[in-house]
Amino acid sequence: MEQIEPTLSGMDIACAEVKAGPNAIVVFGASGDLAHRKLLPSIFELFSQELLDERFYVLGCGRKEFSDEQFRSAVEQSLREGSRFVSAESLNMFLSRVYYVAGSYDEGAFYERIKARVSQLDKKYNVYDSLVFYLAVPPFLYTTIVDKLAEAKLACPKAMGTKKQIKLVVEKPFGRDLKSASELNSRIGHCFEEKQIYRIDHYLGKETVQNILMFRFANSLFEPVWNRNYIDSVQITIAETVGVEHRAGYYDNSGALRDMCQNHMLQMLALVAMAPPVSFEAESIRDEKVKLLRSIRPFDVKRLDDFLVRGQYGPGVIKGKQVGGYPEEEGVGEGSKTETFVAAKLFVDNWRWQGVPFYLRTGKRLAAKDTEIAITFKKVPHSVFASAGLEDMPANVLLFQIQPEEGISLRFQAKRPGSKICMTTLNMNFNYKSVFLVEMPEAYQRLLLDCMVGDQTLFARQDGVETAWGLLTPVLEAWKASDSAPFAYPSGCQSFAQADSLIESDGRCWRRLGQ
Ligand code: BG6
Repeated sequence: MEQIEPTLSGMDIACAEVKAGPNAIVVFGASGDLAHRKLLPSIFELFSQELLDERFYVLGCGRKEFSDEQFRSAVEQSLREGSRFVSAESLNMFLSRVYYVAGSYDEGAFYERIKARVSQLDKKYNVYDSLVFYLAVPPFLYTTIVDKLAEAKLACPKAMGTKKQIKLVVEKPFGRDLKSASELNSRIGHCFEEKQIYRIDHYLGKETVQNILMFRFANSLFEPVWNRNYIDSVQITIAETVGVEHRAGYYDNSGALRDMCQNHMLQMLALVAMAPPVSFEAESIRDEKVKLLRSIRPFDVKRLDDFLVRGQYGPGVIKGKQVGGYPEEEGVGEGSKTETFVAAKLFVDNWRWQGVPFYLRTGKRLAAKDTEIAITFKKVPHSVFASAGLEDMPANVLLFQIQPEEGISLRFQAKRPGSKICMTTLNMNFNYKSVFLVEMPEAYQRLLLDCMVGDQTLFARQDGVETAWGLLTPVLEAWKASDSAPFAYPSGCQSFAQADSLIESDGRCWRRLGQ
């Protein structure tokens, strides 16, 4: 297929970046992997770009015993490894605002120490406006920390005698089924109001995912055809080449349906399929997303195999290297039935989408890293070129490339110069890096900044999380009750027969990964 690179006019119609006001961030799990790989480098990046106020500090909290100085040198090392640009000046300025309190999460005295430190640092940095608690800890600790924050009167602004906004950031996984997610919501709800709760889904912070809204609602061209009259089907893919890595402890109790579908996949589906929101405001957008999630047809658990396929990677070859299968991974339970691949066919029961299949697939150890959303339009209803043998022309495909390629492409047919009837399929490509000549920001930067300024647009709301779990919980229960196990697929494969038949039975096929 030939490629056309369009030139963009490059005119910025509107560029509004918000700056955070005075803010403090208290990170629980501050010595952990997430904090050092993602959070602290992202906070530092915001600081370096002067998007944070001078009145700002970070208080790390964790079980490991660190002095402020020791914690700072650990942070420095992570920043040198994980940040794109580290100037000595901004690094030192940032590190001077980083502090640490050690303790055990279930011990009341730990929170009293945190409270005393927050109050001392608030005075030092004049931070009376906003305090963010970030739970970068294993999920079983969420409720303990939240309860203890409430006991120590750190959760409720009134109880603290301040007008400051207190926010709570909760990492995924948010529950492991509908019941646990509702319980978690209700436990957190005792201490925090919904407007204080920021449930993270890092996919929503990716530029390419945010762009779905801009693309759909800042152009008049696509919305009129964004429906069952013109769209044949939608494919949403998140394929990874990595295996479970060092996370078997978590993953083996989770699996792809919980790890990827309940959150990232359904969020992308909601953004692609939702109705236009009234405005670009958190509640308008979240209302439409939840409405869409509610319109997804529940799975018929008696016919689950017609709509869902699960797989588990076996041995195979990834990037020319022989790798072992999931059962051989360290930490995976014997005879584990955890799925590392899910393919699903969903329908959205509303006027816009009735009858349009949404095919979702996600898996680890596949042939290529590839996250994309492909909108396939219906074929031309009648070929005027039939007499020249052009009966069946390829459909137009609009492709949102989320990663590693980041852009949008549109596939269409055009005449090739030369003989009278000579047609070719072309791809019109827009690629972020080559057009904007910038490195794409880390998703956590966007999310952290939005949280600090109090914008919940890119965070999941209670009803959204519960609706997504409500859709998938019957599947989890049916799998649990069944004797069947995931199909084994060879590491490094494009797909496997059972996943193919899910879509081929409809006369369609999966897009090739990595194209
Ligand atoms: C995480 C999952 O949420 O997303 C991981 O827990 C997965 O299993 C990761 O690998 C994928 O994220 P990204 O940004 O690399 O596509």
